[in-house]
Amino acid sequence: MYIDGKLKLEGIKTRSNFLRGTIAEGLSDLSTGSLSEDDQQLIKFHGSYQQDDRDLRADRRKHRLEKAFSFMLRIRVPGGVATSRQWLETDRIADTYANGTIKLTTRQAFQLHGIIKTNLKRTIKEINDSALDTISACGDVNRNVMCNPNPHLSSIHEQVLKLSRDISTHLTPNTRAYHDIWLDGEKINSSEVEEEPIYGKTYLPRKFKITIAVPPSNDVDIFAHDLSFIAIVEKEKLVGYNVAVGGGMGMTHGNEATFPRLADVIGFCTPEQAVDVAEKVVMVQRDFGDRTDRKHARLKYTIQDHGVDWFLTELNKYLGYKLQPVRPYVFEDNGDRYGWVEDEKGNFHYTLFVQGGRVLDSKDYPMRSGLREVAKIHDGDFRLTANQNLVIANISAKKRSEVEALLEKYGMAQSHERSALRLASIACVALPTCGLALAEAERYLPDVITDLEAILEEVGLRHDAITVRMTGCPNGCARPFISEIGFVGRGPGRYNVYLGGGHAGQRLSKLYRQDLLATEIKDLLSPILKRYAKERNDGEKFGDFVIRQGYVAATEQGEDFHKNIKPEAIPAA
Ligand code: HEM
Ligand code: SF4
Repeated sequence: MYIDGKLKLEGIKTRSNFLRGTIAEGLSDLSTGSLSEDDQQLIKFHGSYQQDDRDLRADRRKHRLEKAFSFMLRIRVPGGVATSRQWLETDRIADTYANGTIKLTTRQAFQLHGIIKTNLKRTIKEINDSALDTISACGDVNRNVMCNPNPHLSSIHEQVLKLSRDISTHLTPNTRAYHDIWLDGEKINSSEVEEEPIYGKTYLPRKFKITIAVPPSNDVDIFAHDLSFIAIVEKEKLVGYNVAVGGGMGMTHGNEATFPRLADVIGFCTPEQAVDVAEKVVMVQRDFGDRTDRKHARLKYTIQDHGVDWFLTELNKYLGYKLQPVRPYVFEDNGDRYGWVEDEKGNFHYTLFVQGGRVLDSKDYPMRSGLREVAKIHDGDFRLTANQNLVIANISAKKRSEVEALLEKYGMAQSHERSALRLASIACVALPTCGLALAEAERYLPDVITDLEAILEEVGLRHDAITVRMTGCPNGCARPFISEIGFVGRGPGRYNVYLGGGHAGQRLSKLYRQDLLATEIKDLLSPILKRYAKERNDGEKFGDFVIRQGYVAATEQGEDFHKNIKPEAIPAA
């Protein structure tokens, strides 16, 4: 891994001429569907991962063919808000160059899968023509900035959305490599004329993720991100933001030096200070983050190692002023509120449940076609939620009945009339595209829910939201370590089961069973759900109940995630 005493990726970044590498040359090499190893790393900064269809691997190997390489493209949607035109363009591009589906991700971005190398440049160009982009959607930079889609208070939403866009623009890398490679921008020959005033030449030690929440909703899961702003609304006016730092999900099985961590809420800033605070938090991490070990490079480890007080002191130094004391706030949940709402301006919003965030047409549910028809007449916007759902937002009173008729025609009007468990479920992509997946997630979670629904019906829990999340590996892209029930892939058909996360995403879950066979999930959870139905206190959430009953121990912030397991609860695999 080490070159010249530095981590390989740090070397790649340094030598890349501000992220150009040899991507342009690699795209025109028709002898392979792949890019060079170094360029595969660099292309992440441009919003793409090289992948291969893992379902086809064995067959291709048998026929001595190279893997079925293709590219995933992640389209940034700052604050999760896209126009009807952007929706229609993304839908068209998904058909023309990708696999005909759109993934709405847990971080409010679009993901397109299955784009072959020879189409990649064209696809990125057309995405940019539709006023969206993929720059810094992946890589060691600030990623898509998330924001509560809040259809309830539209004046507050306008302000937090503006902040998410301002931060996104401010922290977009300065390099013109993206324009050079994908948009045939004016070429710059010497790297000396380029500068990255915020990031510097080696960018950040690791990815960086920012969110903005509007209490009482914690739908963006602020405790799982590097930096978050919690909007403080007093007398219906936005007075500023609490600042939270150092959250993150990813860990590696069997490596106790890696762990999920909740963000700490460290202070308060005014709306005018927020972009500056974001910049300075990024800079502290740029200067103090660990560049020698990528598994220890996120801000959460910088803060864990140096302490929260050290971080705040350092941040205040970079800012040149002090953050104010934290203001009171309350989060109630981290789920979505489905169905219709009318806002204070008389506009309507409909939140549609999208299973696993996958927008596609199936024989009995042509959702993608339906949304295309909605987009053709819709005079508002589309909002991606952090729970992989879609708000058809800002529908004017005169359009509401037309939209309603389309939702009815395409079978979407009842999307939210499912069990509360299904409505509170999310799954990462995992197989067949994600190269890191150890087990299924998006393709399998719906079946697990169906199994559990039978029990919930029996015991009268159909309308009780319990957050349930599945990921194909412990990187945690669907934030399983803060859900009330979490399944984390360990190997084909095997999962670690985590219980006891906070219903508002405010508490980490704990390992309850290791290496459980997928077929045993129902038997494992059935008695617990039955007891929950009978023995819970008034209003008690499932995550709290399993802790009170001793299925798992509670973790207080700052405690060791791995040591805080009830050992007797985990039988040997
Ligand atoms: C070491 C840590 C991580 C690595 C290496 C990693 C890598 C990946 C890869 C390769 C994909 C593409 C899957 C596909 O589309 O086929 C992906 C998807 C995604 N990742 Fe991560 N990831 C990590 C952690 C996280 C965390 C902690 C979050 C969020 C809190 C996150 C958010 C996402 C999102 C939103 C997607 C899109 C798919 C979805 O909605 O599930 N990732 N990640
Ligand atoms: S959690 Fe793992 S399997 Fe799922 S998308 Fe992220 S990296 Fe892939």
